[in-house]
Amino acid sequence: ARAVAVVPAAGRGERLGYGMPKALVPVRGTALLTHAVRGLLNAGCVRHVVVAAPPADVEVVAALLRDADLPADVVPGGADRTDSVRRAFEHAVKAVPDVRVVLVHDAARAFTPPSVIRAVVAAVASGAPAVIPVLPMADTVKQVDFDGTVLATPDRSALRVVQTPQGFATDVLTRAYAEAGDSATDDAGLVEKIGVPVATVPGHACAMKVTTPFDLAIAEAVLAGQEN
Ligand code: CTP
Ligand code: MG
Repeated sequence: ARAVAVVPAAGRGERLGYGMPKALVPVRGTALLTHAVRGLLNAGCVRHVVVAAPPADVEVVAALLRDADLPADVVPGGADRTDSVRRAFEHAVKAVPDVRVVLVHDAARAFTPPSVIRAVVAAVASGAPAVIPVLPMADTVKQVDFDGTVLATPDRSALRVVQTPQGFATDVLTRAYAEAGDSATDDAGLVEKIGVPVATVPGHACAMKVTTPFDLAIAEAVLAGQEN
C-alpha cells in the first residue's frame, strides 16, 4: 500500500523566531521542508505529497521543492494547522481519488526515520483506521489551576508524547474533518471525537518537532548523525 502524505508547513515559526516561515529555515544548508518531503518520498511507501505552504510563499515553496527534484503539490495553507491540513487533504483526495491511506506529517518533524513512516503506513494498510507514533513521557506531568497551583499528578505510565506522521484510512479522515468541527492540535484528536479508535506505534526521538532555537540546534546534530 502506498500512501498520500499531507504536509502542514504553513506556520509562521514564531517560537523559532528566525524571521522567516519555519518551513524555509535551513538545517545544514537545506530548508526544513525539503528535508521533510525528501524523508517521506524516500521511505518507499509514499506515492504523492501535498504541502500546505504559507499563502504568501506558495511559489517560493513550489520552486524550492522543484529545485530539489522532489515532486509535490503545493497549496495555500490556512489560519491554523487544522485549516491547513483540511485544505491540503481536500486537494490530495482530488489529485489521487483512489488513495486508501493518508499520512499527515508536520514539516517541522523533518528528521523522522523512514522506519517510523513505514510502520504507520503498514498499520493502516493492515486495517487500523487511525495510527499515531508515540513515546513514553520522560518527565512527570502536573495538571495545574489557572494560577499555576497543582491540581493533580496524572499517572505518567499511562501518558504518551505524540508525533507525526499520523496515518488514517482515507474515509476516516474525511469523516473526521467533515463531522468533528473546530480545531485540534493533532489530526487523531479529530478522529477521537467521531468515536473511531486510534492505535499507537513506537515513535522515535529523531521525530522531534523543531519548535524553538534549542530544537533547531538538536536538529542540526540529528542531521549530522544521519548524514554519517
Ligand atoms: N502549520 C500549518 N498552518 C498553520 C499553522 C501551523 O500548516 N496555520 C504547521 C506548521 O508549519 C508546522 C506544524 O503545523 O509544520 C506544527 O505547527 P507548529 O510547530 O506550531 O509550527 P508554527 O505554527 O510554524 O510555529 P509557531 O507556533 O511557533 O508559530
Ligand atoms: Mg503553531
